[in-house]
Amino acid sequence: MSTWLLTGGAGYIGAHVLRALRAAGHDAVVLDDLSSGLAERLPDDVHLVRTSLLDPDLPAMLTGLTSRRRLDGVVHLAAKKSVPESVAVPLHYYEENVGGTVALLRAATAAGIGRVLYSSSAAVYGETGADPVGEDFPTLPTSPYGETKLAGEWAVRRHAEAAGLRWCALRYFNVAGAASAALADRGATNLLPLVARAAESGEPLSVFGDDWPTPDGTCLRDYVHVEDLAEAHVAAAQVLLDDDAPSPGVLNVGRNEPTSVLEVVGAVERVRGRPVPYRVAPRRPGDPARVVADATRIADVLGWRASRGIDQMVM
Ligand code: WQD
Repeated sequence: MSTWLLTGGAGYIGAHVLRALRAAGHDAVVLDDLSSGLAERLPDDVHLVRTSLLDPDLPAMLTGLTSRRRLDGVVHLAAKKSVPESVAVPLHYYEENVGGTVALLRAATAAGIGRVLYSSSAAVYGETGADPVGEDFPTLPTSPYGETKLAGEWAVRRHAEAAGLRWCALRYFNVAGAASAALADRGATNLLPLVARAAESGEPLSVFGDDWPTPDGTCLRDYVHVEDLAEAHVAAAQVLLDDDAPSPGVLNVGRNEPTSVLEVVGAVERVRGRPVPYRVAPRRPGDPARVVADATRIADVLGWRASRGIDQMVM
């Protein structure tokens, strides 16, 4: 059994990671500023420290924590995650995501924590044109959000090498689904919650373009169930705990399974047993036609493979 410092643990993905860590016999102390996280996503017996990573007291707080309780590593998910917001207020994203990661790495290392599992994104690839995209393809992020995730990866890797830490960065593709309604992604602007909303309200979904060079003309993405993603964190934590294994490094978390916008609509119709109204709207600027993961490395390094399909992600 190990204990992890889980930043962003009250978030949509963080709460699922906490659940999966506990199911595998581990535990976590959650650090969250509750700016978008929700305390009610957490079980009652979880130790929640409400703080921003940019709080000047973070180093003292972590040293105090590790003097009372052994922490085997940090799972770092706390970040701002909206692509359009990052275009509107890029410095805020650099401050929170890059500044927050740097501050956390400093404080965690000073407190003697020797393992880092970092939450990255397929947004680091940008328009590489690679299909499927592997971890060694060039990274050309097209948004400040993607840039801050990439800069965070660089900081983690360089610091880990210099300070002798063990590290892993997971590049999430399109995350969807929930273990329960209480843990679902709120305030979402992503496709799956929007399709569910259209099904409920009868207000048609806007499908951003049906003239893409894809089989049905709509964009293809690699959707991964948040519970599979959470299990990938547990698998990474287990390899990080094995001091004889090399650091896993950068790993894609996807299924190598393209699903189109209309296929997502079809899945929601199947699961709910009624039609989902939609209308075709113009293409959304910056959308690539296909974003699909080469998921071979994570299978080799962690022995992880997604076990849930699109029907289990739609609600
Ligand atoms: C999916 C598909 C849209 C809404 C973003 C970030 C990425 C990652 C995941 C954080 C696209 C289409 C959508 C709608 C539509 N985020 N769509 N109508 O853009 O693939 O990825 O979220 O790490 O970094 O860029 O996700 O859910 O917005 O869109 O037709 O109303 O659905 O065009 O093809 P995206 P998305």
